Amino acid sequence: MSGPLVDTFGRVHDHIRISVTDRCNLRCTYCMPEDVTFQPTETLLRFDEIERMVRIGIDLGITQVRLTGGEPLLRKNLPELVARLMRIPGLADLALTTNGMLLPELARPLADAGLPRLNVSLDTLDPVRFRKLARRDGLERVLEGLTIAQSCGFRSIKLNAVAIRNFSEPDLPALATYARKQGFELRFIEYMPIGAEPWDRAQMLSAQAIQSILESEFGRLTPIPDADPHAPAQEFAYADGQGRVGFIASVTQPFCRRCDRIRLTADGKLRNCLFALEETDIRPWLQPDSDPAQLQLLIRQSVWAKWEGHEINSARFVRPDRTMHAIGG
Ligand code: GTP
Ligand code: 5AD
Ligand code: SF4
Repeated sequence: MSGPLVDTFGRVHDHIRISVTDRCNLRCTYCMPEDVTFQPTETLLRFDEIERMVRIGIDLGITQVRLTGGEPLLRKNLPELVARLMRIPGLADLALTTNGMLLPELARPLADAGLPRLNVSLDTLDPVRFRKLARRDGLERVLEGLTIAQSCGFRSIKLNAVAIRNFSEPDLPALATYARKQGFELRFIEYMPIGAEPWDRAQMLSAQAIQSILESEFGRLTPIPDADPHAPAQEFAYADGQGRVGFIASVTQPFCRRCDRIRLTADGKLRNCLFALEETDIRPWLQPDSDPAQLQLLIRQSVWAKWEGHEINSARFVRPDRTMHAIGG
C-alpha cells in the first residue's frame, strides 16, 4: 500500500499530535480531576520511539507535528527531542501546546533547539480566577513566560482560551485587549465534554456568543479567509485592523469533516480522533528491530477505521475513558 493516509471519507491526514507526558503542574477543571493519577514514568514513550513514529509518519505523508501533554514542558530534556525532530527531513512544521508555566526557564532552550511555533493556554488574566480554573496559582509565571518567549524569535505564538458560560464572560475583553496589545493571536475554544467534570451544554459559551461579547466591545469582526482550511480555528479581523482573533467551535460548528490529524498518547496508543473510543497500541512497533511496514499498516488501518466525526451533539455521544490531559488535546 502506498499514497497518503486517507480514510473512508476521503480525508487526508498530514498532522500528528504527540503527547510527551500526561503529567501537569496545573489541574484545570475542564481537563482533569483534582485527584488525578498519572501514568508511571516508565510507560512514557522514549525519544527514540517518538522519533521513529515521526520518521515513519513522514513516509506516510505526515508533514506537521504538534507536541502536547499533559504539560509537555514537564518532560525532561524536551528541547533535545525538539532538536532531534527538527533534523528529520520532510518535517514541514513543528509546534508545541503548553500551559506556559515553565516558559520562563524553557522558552530560550526551545527556541535554540529550533522550535518554530508555540500555542500557550491562557484562560484569564485575573489571578483569583486563574486559581479557580487551574486549581493552582501560576498566572504570573505564564505572563512572564510569554514575555520571555516573545524575545526568543518564535515564528508564531498563539494564545488558547477555553470559554465557560457564567464564568469566562468578564475575561473575554481583557484577554482580547492583552493579546492585541502584545501582538498574539488569541483563539477562544468551546468547552468540550472531555474533561473530568460532568459536562452540560449550558456551560459552554458558543463561538457565536463569544463573538457578540467581543463585538460589543471592539466593533464588528470580519472573517478572514482560511489560510489553512483544515485548521480548527476560524479567524476574524478587528474593526480597527489591530490584530486577529480565532474561534475553535468544536461543539457548535464541528470541523470533523475537514479533520487531518491523528494522535499518539504518551504511552504509545494511536487515536484516530480526539473522541475515539478505541486505540491502537503501536509501542511494540516503535522498536529498532520492528518491521516498519507493520507499523505503516497499523497506522493506515487506524485511519481507515476513523468515523465521520464526534457525536457531542447527538444522544449517541459516549465520552472516551481518557480525559483531555491523557490524550493531549
Ligand atoms: P494551529 O496549528 O496553531 O492552528 O494549532 P491547533 O489549534 O490545531 O492546536 P492547539 O493545540 O492549539 O489546539 C487548540 C484546541 O483546539 C485544542 O486544545 C482543542 O480544544 C481543539 N482541537 C484541536 N484539535 C482538535 C480536534 O481534532 N478535534 C477537536 N474537537 N478539537 C480539537
Ligand atoms: N474543552 C476544550 N478544550 C480543552 N482543553 C482541555 N480541556 C478542554 C475541554 N474540556 C484544551 C485547552 C488547553 C489544551 C491543552 O487543551 O485549550 O489549552
Ligand atoms: Fe494541564 Fe493543560 Fe489540562 Fe490545564 S488543560 S490541567 S494546563 S493539561
